Amino acid sequence: MTRVLLTGAAGQLGTDTQRAAENVPGIELLAHDRESLDITDAANTNQVIAAAAPSVIIHGAAWTAVDHCEGDEARSFAVNSTGTQNVLDAAKSVGARVIYVSTDYVFDGTKSDPYVESDTPNPASVYGRSKLAGEAATLADPENLVVRTSWVCSAHGSNMVKTILRLAESHPTLTFVDDQIGKPTFTADLGASLLTLAQRNDTGVMHITNEGVVSWYEFCQDVLRAAGLDPERVMPCSTDELQPPRPAPRPANSVLANTRFAGLGLDLLRDFRAPLAEVVAELI
Ligand SMILES: NC(=O)c1ccc[n+]([C@@H]2O[C@H](COP(=O)([O-])OP(=O)(O)OC[C@H]3O[C@@H](n4cnc5c(N)ncnc54)[C@H](OP(=O)(O)O)[C@@H]3O)[C@@H](O)[C@H]2O)c1
Repeated sequence: MTRVLLTGAAGQLGTDTQRAAENVPGIELLAHDRESLDITDAANTNQVIAAAAPSVIIHGAAWTAVDHCEGDEARSFAVNSTGTQNVLDAAKSVGARVIYVSTDYVFDGTKSDPYVESDTPNPASVYGRSKLAGEAATLADPENLVVRTSWVCSAHGSNMVKTILRLAESHPTLTFVDDQIGKPTFTADLGASLLTLAQRNDTGVMHITNEGVVSWYEFCQDVLRAAGLDPERVMPCSTDELQPPRPAPRPANSVLANTRFAGLGLDLLRDFRAPLAEVVAELI
């Protein structure tokens, strides 16, 4: 059995990783939400991790409200950077390997091709900078792994699928940007992959997303289609036309290439429309 401790257990990824663990043999999952393990509290983090003595930590806890992060750099770094350092210090004291979940926001989005693991990060937002600091701390130990993902969705928490379905109930048309592209990633699939990686010894940086590249405009159409609604109700606009503008800049290109993951001989995650259909069925 691999003893795995999970941080951020009440979040999107945390909830679905717990669900996925029910179907993955060989994993003993110890799931902690913020109430039982606050990563900004070094003593609490150390005590919980020491008592659990895991061999692997899947560190999903983060402050993910990117626009709020933009206005509160101190809190963003306290959670995403210092909090991660607290997890790493506690992990080291029990000899646990850390899998840190990171983000497409570490890139500025100006590349024309998909981002590969060896591309140089250049975050444009406070959130991206704070997550990159967490990456750097994680990679200081060569046994650890950073898993970058993008456009995270699930049936829980707040995400674009739920926002789109809510807007569709009250608005005849919906307007979404068509100049930001990415790969929507569903936590049921990502969580299962992380549990597989917890039983391996990969190190460094790895990109893991569902397959399928879309703009937000196209994704909104896919969500409406999945809900049996008319995708023609979605109108495209450009990021410059958004009123009011979002506080945190978004990468225009958030597409992460799963090249390294594909090379492991593991199944790539499904086209995102498959888990999207499952999530929409759960929500409506
Ligand atoms: N959402 C995305 O689009 C996206 C994209 C790429 C990568 N990621 C990364 O993927 C991971 C999972 O994202 P997600 O969408 O599942 O996030 P999420 O739903 O916001 O979950 C994050 C969890 O972390 C918890 N948390 C916040 N501060 C904490 C603290 N001080 N101590 C312990 N837990 C704390 C939150 O608890 P509270 O709710 O109580 O605050 C929340 O349950 C994160 O590392 C994120 O950076 C997300």
